[in-house]
Amino acid sequence: MARIVGGLGTSHVPIIGRTMAAGKQASVSFAPFFASFAPVHDWIARVRPDIAIVLYNDHGLNFFLDNMPTFAIGVGHSYHNEDEGWGEPAPRLFRGAPDLSWHIVQSLIAEEFDISTCRDMAFDHAGITALDLVWPGDGVGHGDIPVAVIPLVVNAVQPPFPTPLRCYKLGHAIGRAINSFAGDARVLVIGSGGLSHELGQSGKINRDFDLLCMDKIVSDPAFLARYSNDEIVDLAGAQGLELMNWIVMRGAVSGDVSVVASHYELPISHTGGAMMLLDPNGKDH
Ligand code: DHB
Ligand code: FE
Repeated sequence: MARIVGGLGTSHVPIIGRTMAAGKQASVSFAPFFASFAPVHDWIARVRPDIAIVLYNDHGLNFFLDNMPTFAIGVGHSYHNEDEGWGEPAPRLFRGAPDLSWHIVQSLIAEEFDISTCRDMAFDHAGITALDLVWPGDGVGHGDIPVAVIPLVVNAVQPPFPTPLRCYKLGHAIGRAINSFAGDARVLVIGSGGLSHELGQSGKINRDFDLLCMDKIVSDPAFLARYSNDEIVDLAGAQGLELMNWIVMRGAVSGDVSVVASHYELPISHTGGAMMLLDPNGKDH
C-alpha cells in the first residue's frame, strides 16, 4: 500500500543550490535557512520516505512560451538536470518511479485532470534544490538523492494560469491517486517555490503575506485557494505564483497535520525564503 508520509514546502532560489555545491552553507547570510532543515533530516531518518513527488514550475528547461502545458508529469525511469547557468553544472541522474507515475496519470485523467505526460524531462533548479535540501549527503557538494522522484510541473510562468482552487483540487486528486496505488511506497510530497518574489524587483517581497500563507497552509488551506492568480501577483509578485506548488502539496497532504519544521527569513536573493515540513501521521509511521 502506498501512502503519503509528509509534505514539504520550500523556496528554490538557485543560490541555495550554488551554495550547497560549494559547501558554503555555514558562511552565507542565509545560513539559518540551511540550519532550519536539521529537524527535516531527523524526520527523514525516522520516517524513511522512498519516493518524492516534486511539484514545481518549470523555468524554461522543458516548456517555453511556444509549448506550455498547464500540468505535466514525468513518467520516466530517470531524469537528468541541465546546466541552467546558475549552479547545476555537473551532470546528474535522478531515478524515476514510472509505475506510480503512470498510476497517477490514469487516476488524474479518470478524474478529469488531463495532465501532460513526459517520458523524458530535464529537472531544473526548482526540483533539484528542494531534493538537495532534504537529502544533502554529507553537506559538501551535492549528495546522492536516495529516493525515486516524480517531477510534476504546474504552469506558474505564462498566463492563463491554473487557479489556486484548481491547484488545490489537483492536490486532492494526487492524494487519492497515491492512496489507491497497490504497490508499496512511502511518499513525500514536495511543493517547491515562493514565497513572495518578482525577479528583478526585490521590493515585491511581502513578509506579512508570506507569513499569512505559512499560517493558512497549515490551518486553513482553502483560504489560500480562494485567491485569484491576479491577487497573488499583486500581493506577492509575479513569481509569487509559485505559491501554487505549496497549495497543490497541501491538497495532497489533506486533513490535520503537525508542523515538524518551519522557517522564514528575508531575503534569500530576491525572495521571501520559506520552508515548512508537515506530517499528517504524527508518530504513526
Ligand atoms: C530566484 C528565485 C526563484 O524562484 C527562481 O526560480 C530563480 C531566482 C531569486 O530570488 O534569485
Ligand atoms: Fe522560481
